[in-house]
Amino acid sequence: MDADFWNERWEKGETGWHEGRPNPYLVQHWERLALPPGSTVLVPLCGKSVDLLWLRERGAHAVGVELSGIAVRDFAEESGLTLNARRDGALTRHFTGGLELWEGDIFDLSPGQLPAIDAVFDRAALMALPSRMRGPYARQLQRLAPAARAMLIVTTYSPQASDERPPFSVDADEIRAHFGETYRVEVLETKDILADFPALQRRGFRSLTETAYQLVRRDESKPTG
Ligand SMILES: C[S@@+](CC[C@H](N)C(=O)[O-])C[C@H]1O[C@@H](n2cnc3c(N)ncnc32)[C@H](O)[C@@H]1O
Repeated sequence: MDADFWNERWEKGETGWHEGRPNPYLVQHWERLALPPGSTVLVPLCGKSVDLLWLRERGAHAVGVELSGIAVRDFAEESGLTLNARRDGALTRHFTGGLELWEGDIFDLSPGQLPAIDAVFDRAALMALPSRMRGPYARQLQRLAPAARAMLIVTTYSPQASDERPPFSVDADEIRAHFGETYRVEVLETKDILADFPALQRRGFRSLTETAYQLVRRDESKPTG
């Protein structure tokens, strides 16, 4: 999916993925990541997700990256936060205490622009991209967050999904292929969510599951001593 596709979704208000409440997997599993207070969490392709606010309220430094200026404007309006803005390279950094939201293409960000990232929360980001873009995206994520000790990734899977239009399908093997060299990948939870998507049923989907994965750095999980 290119920038035009996403900008059009935001212009037309076709943002059915937006939850408007903290993501339930984030809320349920955040403590498992066992991050020290004040950790910095990257939320790639964040839309106007309130997960940024939820993380900030828990004392984390939340770092979002989002292509759409409409999403960034909506986020600022709906959160009531006053964000300062500064152009930085090809992107604009909107920021306030405990939160920064980078407006622009994640592929145009360099690691030097970001603070050191301790963890990544990816909900509907990897799975927002067609297969040809997911490898480059996973590499870029690991370039931007080279020392992240944990990731929480939420994706959907359906045998009826196509690689032409979202929702794209990502399974555990693919997560391991992208991240398995550095991270141990554990399935936390899988839910059948087909009933929530009548439009996809009309498109011929007969199965749709959502899975939350926890990724823990292999060198973090080694027994000590
Ligand atoms: C399916 S939505 C998920 C949004 C968010 N993670 C959530 O849970 O609400 C994908 C988002 O990624 C943004 N996006 C797509 N490609 C991007 C890119 N290359 N760089 C930054 N943001 C991008 C889109 O504008 C869209 O808001």
